[in-house]
Amino acid sequence: MKEEAVRLSKWVRLCGVSEAPSPGNVIEAEVEGVALCVANVNGELSALDNICPHRNGPLGQGWLEGETVVCPWHSWMFHAKTGISEYPSNECVKVFPIRVEGEDVLVQIE
Ligand code: FES
Repeated sequence: MKEEAVRLSKWVRLCGVSEAPSPGNVIEAEVEGVALCVANVNGELSALDNICPHRNGPLGQGWLEGETVVCPWHSWMFHAKTGISEYPSNECVKVFPIRVEGEDVLVQIE
């Protein structure tokens, strides 16, 4: 019998709406051992892996340029919604689904 891997995901509370970053800002957060970079682009939240693939810099300590999160260590840049790098090319970070429910910001993690 062939076994298939089943990946479970769940929505968990990330923070309160009032604790989320304001437009144009990023913050670091951690949920169930997953380090996240939470960005607010024009009022829309997104959640990315906080660990930069270059040398593990903390993206949530970086800043936004337009819709792009800039790593504070060597300025690699990742689109806040897709996680795809704008500099250099061919890199990416994982993006986690995020939503607001009442007064809570929820993120979907595996
Ligand atoms: S660690 Fe992020 S750009 Fe180097």
